Amino acid sequence: MAEPELRPATPADAAAIVAITRELIADGGVYPHTAEMTDDELVGYWFAPKGQLVVALLDGRIAGVYLMKPQWMGRGSHVATASYAVASAARGHGVGEALGRHSIAEARRLGYRAMQFNLVVETNTAAVKLWQKLGFRILATLPGVFRHDVHGHVGAHVMFLEL
Ligand SMILES: CC(C)(COP(=O)(O)OP(=O)(O)OC[C@H]1O[C@@H](n2cnc3c(N)ncnc32)[C@H](O)[C@@H]1OP(=O)(O)O)[C@@H](O)C(=O)NCCC(=O)NCCS
Repeated sequence: MAEPELRPATPADAAAIVAITRELIADGGVYPHTAEMTDDELVGYWFAPKGQLVVALLDGRIAGVYLMKPQWMGRGSHVATASYAVASAARGHGVGEALGRHSIAEARRLGYRAMQFNLVVETNTAAVKLWQKLGFRILATLPGVFRHDVHGHVGAHVMFLEL
């Protein structure tokens, strides 16, 4: 399979991003979003104010997306947070890693001093392994904060990368 091509998202990408997000919702074990959320709410989540939204294309089709934005306002705005999603059919081909590496490079370029993920579900092995591969550390595991469709209340890691 070809290398993913990354570019800034445009409003025309919204439907594809929503379709990927619906897959995550159906999974029930990776993101807090629920099926009750409307497409407009999901678009609002990804196209966030002050956010940087990037899509990855494989063979011309949108295969993944990340959103990076300041973790906090003002005195905490030098820390970035981010969300990532890869279409289920495109997983295991380097798209998530390409998105992760791109976001880290962008965070450095934009002058962020660190990246912090707030809710990496502890049973989400693919994500935990990916972020550890890219240098993130688990700082804490928040007990029972995520209501998993299959496993019930599970913990979630706070993961951190100093830039
Ligand atoms: C996590 C996710 C982004 C990974 O994307 P991907 O394109 O499948 O990942 P890649 O093919 O780039 O894999 C890169 C690395 O991730 C890890 N990884 C990916 N899938 C994995 C799996 N099923 N099991 C264990 N590790 C896995 C490995 O470290 C892998 O490196 P390796 O190939 O050298 O072992 C993708 O599974 C996804 O979108 N999941 C649902 C949403 C989500 O979890 N987002 C992140 C929330 S914090």
